[in-house]
Amino acid sequence: PEPIIFDTDPGVDDAQAIAIALHHPDIELLGMTTTFGNVDVSTASHNALLLSELAGHQVPVAQGSAAPMVKPRHPAPAHIHGSNGLGDIALPAVQGRIDDRDAARFIVDTVDARPGEVTLVAVGPLGNLPGAVQLDPTLIDRVKRVVVMGGSVREGGNVTPVAEANIFNDPHAAQRVLTAGWPLTLVGLDVTHRCVLTPGHMARIREGQGELGEVLAGSYAFYRDFYQEMLGIDGCCPHDSCALAWLMCPELFETARGHLTVATDGDAEGQTLFAPENRAYIEPRWSRTPLVDVCLDVDGEALVEWITRTLA
Ligand code: BDR
Ligand code: CA
Repeated sequence: PEPIIFDTDPGVDDAQAIAIALHHPDIELLGMTTTFGNVDVSTASHNALLLSELAGHQVPVAQGSAAPMVKPRHPAPAHIHGSNGLGDIALPAVQGRIDDRDAARFIVDTVDARPGEVTLVAVGPLGNLPGAVQLDPTLIDRVKRVVVMGGSVREGGNVTPVAEANIFNDPHAAQRVLTAGWPLTLVGLDVTHRCVLTPGHMARIREGQGELGEVLAGSYAFYRDFYQEMLGIDGCCPHDSCALAWLMCPELFETARGHLTVATDGDAEGQTLFAPENRAYIEPRWSRTPLVDVCLDVDGEALVEWITRTLA
């Protein structure tokens, strides 16, 4: 199995992805690190602990960024994920405690123990990763890969016409992560908006997942209203699960190599700009950042079927 650290802000679609990370036989979930984003960071940690307990598979949960690196934090609007992050459904009590280490230290220690093996899958605002690199700059050469759910190249944004939420919520952290020089794949809205998890899929997941299935289905029902309103679709985009799908079934994706950079202020704040490999620009700085892989398209139906099969 592929050893991963899952960096997350659960969040309804994060919860679905966490369930996959806990259940998929080819994924070894070494731990979760949490960040503010869909909720404040302590709620994110609570939800991460709860989900792993409900799955009957406790993994360490280390708490991380409470706010963006530079800009002030604006709490996420509660109508998307609910004020508890899981669609405002009633939740059982949590038994376990968060790890004594903070997220950055947990990442450094975990990668230290298995150099070259660990993939960081980051599906929230990205502050924990620069935090870890600051503790240990050699991390960049010792993680196997970083897979980020965030950004958008051709699809446009979901917070502003150009910015996706995870990048918009901490553009300075995103800029560091996307240009750090580690092997990196960006799985953004170009992919996640091609995937619709329908009520039919969720019914199958609910049946397969016991108590965790009730939380996934209950929070899904809340999230679905938001998608109905925003995109006019019956179902929701399983954004964060798409990052795991890229790891497990890359053949479903169309990927391009190039340079990425993030706009950190002004009207374009949070936009990811992509310069495909082998294209020359008059302004040379566009080709100076390291090369990364960016997903441009996906077989959305097959991806959603993969999620459902994994959880059902
Ligand atoms: C991303 O933003 C969050 O609301 C979701 O959990 C996902 O990580 C989608 O833009
Ligand atoms: Ca998320």
